[in-house]
This record gives sequence, structure tokens and C-alpha cells, in this order.
Amino acid sequence: MAKGISSPSSSEEGRECRHEVHAEKMSSLGHFTQAIVHDIRNSLHIVVTASAMIKRRSDDPSIHNHLNAIDQTIERTNGLIERILTFANNSEDHLGIIDLSGSIDESISLTRPMIPPEITVDWQHPAKAMHILGDHGQLYQVVLNLLKNAIEAIGRGNCGSILVTLNKFYPWAELRVKDSGPGIAADVIDLICEPAFTTKADGNGFGLANVFDVVEKHGGTMEVASPAGEGAEFIILLPLMPELNI
Ligand SMILES: Nc1ncnc2c1ncn2[C@@H]1O[C@H](COP(=O)(O)OP(=O)(O)OP(=O)(O)O)[C@@H](O)[C@H]1O
Ligand SMILES: [Mg+2]
Repeated sequence: MAKGISSPSSSEEGRECRHEVHAEKMSSLGHFTQAIVHDIRNSLHIVVTASAMIKRRSDDPSIHNHLNAIDQTIERTNGLIERILTFANNSEDHLGIIDLSGSIDESISLTRPMIPPEITVDWQHPAKAMHILGDHGQLYQVVLNLLKNAIEAIGRGNCGSILVTLNKFYPWAELRVKDSGPGIAADVIDLICEPAFTTKADGNGFGLANVFDVVEKHGGTMEVASPAGEGAEFIILLPLMPELNI
């Protein structure tokens, strides 16, 4: 049976989601990241300029201390931005033995700046490492796309929650991303990982296609569940490395 995204109602046939639009998908994700980075950099630039101006006009050491703290925070944020860009532009495969738990942990941290304060992200995972053969950068894209979709489903400005869980069901690692949004309508649920399928006015429709591509490259499967009124839940299974997990 073809691997692919399936909903509980269509899981018997599964869904074939292979496609040849990798470059477009990567460019869609890259554009999204660059748009965010552009806005963040503009905002940071305003703060840095204001900080420098106040420093020039004030001899008060306590004000200088506060401004130095602001400058350091901005420097750290700029470092974070560089790491996000490195990940988002990384379309080559770099498979290696990675701790999935640590990888997702870092991906969520990198994504935090785009999460509105009204939306909480609860990340639950076992303390022990969970080793897979994987590409850290590509797994970041999985987390980024699923969180981006969850945020957009809840709607910026609305209160909501996203639950991210990782569990071991040997020989699989199971990653779930569940949101408190409106869920996915039954008539489109089988289409959502089709490239260029979108229900959003400003969507490109390549996010889930990209997620599916990465999951497939990692030898995994993806399902979506969206019971009426309960939000959407994406369930990804990735094969664990036997020698390190038994
Ligand atoms: N968490 C979710 N809740 C509700 N609907 C969702 C969710 N995730 C995806 N969808 C639906 O699946 C469609 C396809 O998602 P996908 O991420 O591929 O594209 P997009 O978000 O529309 O655009 P892009 O990610 O390229 O900016 C969305 O337009 C939306 O209708
Ligand atoms: Mg999307």
C-alpha cells in the first residue's frame, strides 16, 4: 500500500501523495521564513537604533545597563534568525543518527518567535533520547509547517492551544501535533497533502506536501484525524533505530 497521509475514514486505501514539486515546496517554505525574518529584522533594527540614540543622550548608568541588556537580547535574536534561515534553506539530505526528542525540542524553540502569545504550545516527550536515522533540518520543516498550520487554523489573535507529543511504540516513534482550531472539513480532508491544495486566501498549499515528503524520506507514515469540533491532529510515525532503542 502506498505510504501517505490518510484520514481514519480513508485509511483503508491510504493516499498516494507523491509528486515532483520539491523545489516549489522548498521555495514556499523559504518565502514564508524570509517574510517572517524580514519583519523581525525590521523591528529589531528600530529597537537597535532607538537604543543607540538613547545611549548617546543619557549619562545615567542604570539606563545604560538596561540598554546593554536590550542590545544583548537583540544579538541573541539575530543569532536565532541566522539558524532559522540555515534550516529553512536546507533542501539537501543530511541523514545521520539523531535524537528525535532533542531535534523536535530545538525545532519548537526555533519556532517560538512566530507563536502568538494567545496560543500555548505544550510539548510532552519522554526524558530518554529516541534515536532515528534522520535529517535535523528537514524535521525542523515538519515541525514548522505543522505549527504554522495549527496557528493559522486557530487564527492569529484568537486564544488556543497546540499539543505536541512524542512517544515510543517500538519500532516506531510517534509524533502527534494537535490543535484547538476548527478542524478540517470532511470534504477536503483527503486533499490536504496534495501539492497546491489550499483553503487559505494567502496559502500556497505546499506545507503539508513538504511535510509528507520529509516523512516519506524518513521511512515513515502520516495520518490526520479531525473529529467534528475537536480540532485537527497530525500523527506521524518514524522508524526508530533498532540497535540504540531496544
Ligand atoms: N491544523 C489544521 N487545521 C485545519 N486545517 C488545516 C490544518 N492544517 C492544514 N489544514 C488544511 O490543509 C490545507 C493545506 O495545508 P498546507 O500546509 O499544505 O497549505 P497552506 O497552509 O494552505 O499553505 P502553505 O503552507 O503553503 O502556506 C490548508 O489550506 C488547510 O485547509
Ligand atoms: Mg501550511
